[in-house]
Amino acid sequence: MRVLKTVLLSLLTLAQFALGAEDYYKVLGLDRQASDKQIKSAYRQLSKKFHPDKNPNDPSAHDKFVLVSEAYEALSDAESRQIYDKYGHEGLKQRKQQGGGSHDPFDLFSRFFGGGGHYQPGQRRGHNVEVKVPISLRDFYNGRATEFQWNKQEICEKCDGTGAADRVVHTCPACNGRGVRTVRQQLAPGMVTQVQMQCDACGGRGKSIKHRCPACNGERVVRKATVVSLNIQRGMADGARVAYESEADASPDYVAGDLIVTVFEKEPGLEGEDNPDRVDGVFFRRRGDDLLWREVLSLREALMGDWTRNLTHLDGHIVHLGRKRGQVVQPGHVETVEGEGMPRWAEDGDSVYHKTEFGSLLVEYVVVLPDQMESGMEKELWQLFQKWRAKKGVDLHKDSGRPDKPVMQQQDEGHEEL
Ligand SMILES: *[C@@H]1O[C@H](CO)[C@@H](O)[C@H](O)[C@H]1NC(C)=O
Ligand SMILES: [Zn+2]
Ligand SMILES: [Zn+2]
Repeated sequence: MRVLKTVLLSLLTLAQFALGAEDYYKVLGLDRQASDKQIKSAYRQLSKKFHPDKNPNDPSAHDKFVLVSEAYEALSDAESRQIYDKYGHEGLKQRKQQGGGSHDPFDLFSRFFGGGGHYQPGQRRGHNVEVKVPISLRDFYNGRATEFQWNKQEICEKCDGTGAADRVVHTCPACNGRGVRTVRQQLAPGMVTQVQMQCDACGGRGKSIKHRCPACNGERVVRKATVVSLNIQRGMADGARVAYESEADASPDYVAGDLIVTVFEKEPGLEGEDNPDRVDGVFFRRRGDDLLWREVLSLREALMGDWTRNLTHLDGHIVHLGRKRGQVVQPGHVETVEGEGMPRWAEDGDSVYHKTEFGSLLVEYVVVLPDQMESGMEKELWQLFQKWRAKKGVDLHKDSGRPDKPVMQQQDEGHEEL
């Protein structure tokens, strides 16, 4: 089913690309209500997927890459999107003739991911960035589409990464664009040497600007809080890593590295936000695919049976525990309730061919004895035990086979004198 769907989807995609004027929303896999954020996110994914450098054996990738950037440019600008929604491709054509600019698709790509818009071998790559995201056990159990924020370095949009207020970059007049200057130094009278120094006028870049961009202060990049969506799959491991290719800090000088997210289980808060439904399951402990729970029994319950407990699991369903009258539970006994543990993680989740399986819930019983009893009750119990002790009592000491008297070591005489 899944395979068929994928094949169908790619056939559809191919058909789309074969036509003359494709619907820009369809190109990005979105509907007409899509938000700006969705448009951006679709561009991020598809432009990487179809980048010609990554598809050297697929000549059609280039066309798809160009089409994706066209679609993004048309829909990411509010005015242009309005024109497209009303008048379609014709409307945009007219707007372009009136001077509405269009970007080179590789420039657009580099505005998102840095570098020169290419993934060429040997090109400098930025560092990977590691981010840790706390996730509640409840979300690991149920799965959840969530988001997190981090402070990402992005290419300045105001100056398109040039650092110049007018977006114009000149060759540095001090070093003629070489980035270094040759300086003569006198070591001693009559002894002169030539030293190469980084050009201080341009900081070694060989380029200079007239007026610094006010948004980035000429730095060409800015740091800002960036929201990333994160899909927690059911049963994902504590410590699982999710990689976002080329989504780390961007810079005009290199291609962005990868953003690597580690999800880890956070301690549940007692009330409120972490447990709005007040389920017991929030306080389960996870051990791989199993869940642990500690249940307290009174002496009477442990000894006589006839008790029930209803645990509310992480998705709200009830797990029944209990014993009939006469069923004893030993202190420290661990009961295995099969199928009530964590979902076992599977890449494709639920499907017709694959139903989610679950680990076990391990319930450890703790028996609490009363510190003191009412004297009447104490007397009755004492008499009861005395009666049955006489009739049928077991002497644990006798049965243990342990010696009655201390066993002395054979000691040598010297010691005895001491
Ligand atoms: C648990 O649920 C069962 C059946 O729904 C009910 O008979 C029992 O009394 C409940 N036990 C507790 C402790 O609430
Ligand atoms: Zn210079
Ligand atoms: Zn700037």
